[in-house]
Amino acid sequence: MSHTNTTHFGDDNMAAKSPALAHADAQYGVSRWGDGLITILDNGHIGLLHPNRPDDVPTDLMSVIENLDARGIAAPILLRVSDFISWRIEQINEAFRDAISELDYRGTYQGVFPVKVNQQAQVIERIVAEGRQYDFGLEVGSKAELLIALSHDTGSKAALICNGVKDEEFICLALMSQRLGFNTFIVLESPRELDLVLRVSREMDIRPQLGIRIKLTHEVSGNWSASSGDRSTFGMTIAQVMDVIDQLRTEEFLDCLVLQHSHLGSQVPNIIEIRMAAQEACRFFVELRKEGAPLSFLDLGGGLGIDYTGEHRATENSTNYTLSEYSVNIVETVKYAMDKADMAHPIIITESGRACVAQSSMLLFNILEATHFDSAQPVEAEDGDHTVLQSMLAIEAYLTAERVHECWNDLVFYRNEMRALLKSGQASLRETAKAERVHLYLMNRIKALLAENDSMNEEMAEAMKQAADIYHGNFSLFQSLPDVWAIDQIHPIAPLHRLDEKPTRHAVLSDITCDSDGKIDNFVLGKGLSKTLPVHELKEDEDYYLGVFFVGAYQETLGDLHNLFGDTNVVTIELRTDGSFELMHEQEGDTISEVLSYVEYDPRQMVDAFKKTVENAVKTGRIPATERRQMISAFKDSINGYTYFEQ
Ligand SMILES: Cc1ncc(COP(=O)(O)O)c(C=O)c1O
Repeated sequence: MSHTNTTHFGDDNMAAKSPALAHADAQYGVSRWGDGLITILDNGHIGLLHPNRPDDVPTDLMSVIENLDARGIAAPILLRVSDFISWRIEQINEAFRDAISELDYRGTYQGVFPVKVNQQAQVIERIVAEGRQYDFGLEVGSKAELLIALSHDTGSKAALICNGVKDEEFICLALMSQRLGFNTFIVLESPRELDLVLRVSREMDIRPQLGIRIKLTHEVSGNWSASSGDRSTFGMTIAQVMDVIDQLRTEEFLDCLVLQHSHLGSQVPNIIEIRMAAQEACRFFVELRKEGAPLSFLDLGGGLGIDYTGEHRATENSTNYTLSEYSVNIVETVKYAMDKADMAHPIIITESGRACVAQSSMLLFNILEATHFDSAQPVEAEDGDHTVLQSMLAIEAYLTAERVHECWNDLVFYRNEMRALLKSGQASLRETAKAERVHLYLMNRIKALLAENDSMNEEMAEAMKQAADIYHGNFSLFQSLPDVWAIDQIHPIAPLHRLDEKPTRHAVLSDITCDSDGKIDNFVLGKGLSKTLPVHELKEDEDYYLGVFFVGAYQETLGDLHNLFGDTNVVTIELRTDGSFELMHEQEGDTISEVLSYVEYDPRQMVDAFKKTVENAVKTGRIPATERRQMISAFKDSINGYTYFEQ
C-alpha cells in the first residue's frame, strides 16, 4: 500500500508551507475550496485529508495513482473516497441535531438521500450504513430507484420518499413496501396521480402514507431556477392543491395525507432564498393542517449547495452560507411559523443529494499532449525586412511587465496588418511566415511576463485564453463531467504533482472526444475565476496528472457515450491513518465491446465480419497468411479493451 510520510497544511497552518508551496496553494486556491479534504503536501503532490482524523498522515494522490497503476487500473480513474461520504452524512445530521437542540425545536430531523444524485451501489450502501444511526432514508423518483431502495435496510423509521411520475406498478411496489415495514410515502406530484393511487390503495386494502408536492411561487436564482416558481414542471398549484384536498376528503383519504413536499432547485446559492422558500412552504403546511390534513412531515427537498469555488458568495458555483447556517435557518423558520400558528413542530425532512456526495469523488487523468500557440525560438531581423515586420521586431525592445498590454496590442495589430498585406498582394508568403514566427516568439515572451504577474484585466485574460496552450486530457467531458458542458458547472481542478515547481504555462483543457465542445476553459483559482489554468511544461519521460474535484453528484449517471468513450475505471477507497488506503471496490470501466453493444452492435458478429475481411485479404494476396492470426487477435484485444487512451 502506498505510504507518504509528509507533512501537510490547511488554512490553519499556513506557516508550515515553503514559499513555493504557499504560492501554489494561493495560486490554485486549494485551501480555499478544499474544505479541509484536499491539501498540498510538502513533496508538491495533492493529498487527501481525513476530515475526522486531523492527526492522520494525508494520502498522497500520486501514490494512489501509482499503486492503482501497478494493479493494472489505469487512468482515467474516478476515485471515490467513502470516508468523505460518511463524513457528510454525519455533518448534515449533526448540524440539524445541533440546530434543533439550540432552538428548542420540538420535532426531529430525518433526512433522505435522493438516489438519482448518485445511484452507484457503493455510494448508496455507504449512505445507508452511515445513515442508519440517524434514521436517514432514501428518496426515489422511478421504479428502478425504488427497487434500489427496497434492496437496502435503512431501518424502520427512516423515510422512503417516492417522488416522480408513478404508474400502477410503481404505486403497487410502494404500497407493498409499506406492508413490509418500510416507512414509505407516496408523494402526489400532480392531481392526475390521485385517482390511480386511491384505486390501487383500495384494491390492495392499504391505507397509504401520502405526501403532496406543492409548487412554490418563490423563484430561486442559480443554475436550477427553473425547478421553482409558477412554471416549474413538478408540483401542484394552489388551486390544484385545494382540489386534491377536497377529493381526499370526499373519498375519505384525507387522514392519509401526512407529508408536504417542495423542492426549490439544486445548488441554491443564497441562504435568504432558502429561508423564503421554507417560509412559503410553512404557510402551505399550516393552511393544509387547518383544512384537516394530519401533516406531520415537512419535506423541503434538496438545494443545499457546495462551495465549488471556495468564494463563499451567492454565485452559481458557490454558496453564501454554511451547513450550520442552512440547518439553523430552516429549523428557526419552521419553529417560528408553527409557534405562530400554535401548531406542533413537524418532523423536518430535507433531500440533500449534492451536499452528501459531491465531495466524495474526483476524476484523475493524465495529459496526452499539449498544443502550443507560442514559441521560444527568437527570430532575427534581416536587411530588407518588410516595414511592418520591422515594427513587429521592434516590440521586443520595449516589452516589459509594465508595458505588456501595449506590446500585446501592437503585436496583434502588426500581425493582422501583415495578413492584410498578404491578401492584397503587398507582402509575400515568406514575409508573412516570418511575421507569424515573430508573433509566436513575442507571445511566448508576453506569456512569461504574465505568468510572473497574476493581475490581468479582462481583455488581456480573453486574449491569453485565445493564445493559451491546449492540454489534451485522457478523459471525456461528456462521460465524466457532463454538467461542465451542459450548464458551465465549475469544479476545482489542479495538477496532482509538481506543485513545488512554478507552473510556466497557461492552458485550457481539451478532452479525448472529437468534439470542439469537449473542453474546459473556466477554472477556479485562488484569486477567483480564470479562463486558463496554470500548468507545468510537459516532460518527455513523465506523465502529467490533473485532478477534477467534487464530481460525486450527478456526473456519473448523467454522462453519455459521446464518441463511445464509456464509464471510466471507478475505484472506491478508504483512508488509513498512516496515509495509505484500503481498496474497497474496483469497477472496471466499460470495454469497447460493452459500449458497442449499447449502440446495438453485436461484438461477436463484428469479430466474424472482421475475420471475413482478413480472410479476403489473404485470398487476394493483400496480406500473407501468417499475418491473419495476428490481425484478428489485435481486433479482439481492442474490442475487449478500455475505451480510453492506454499507454
Ligand atoms: C425532488 C428532488 N429532491 C432532491 C433533489 C436533490 O437536490 P440537491 O442535489 O440540490 O440536494 C432534487 C434534484 O434536483 C430533486 O429534484
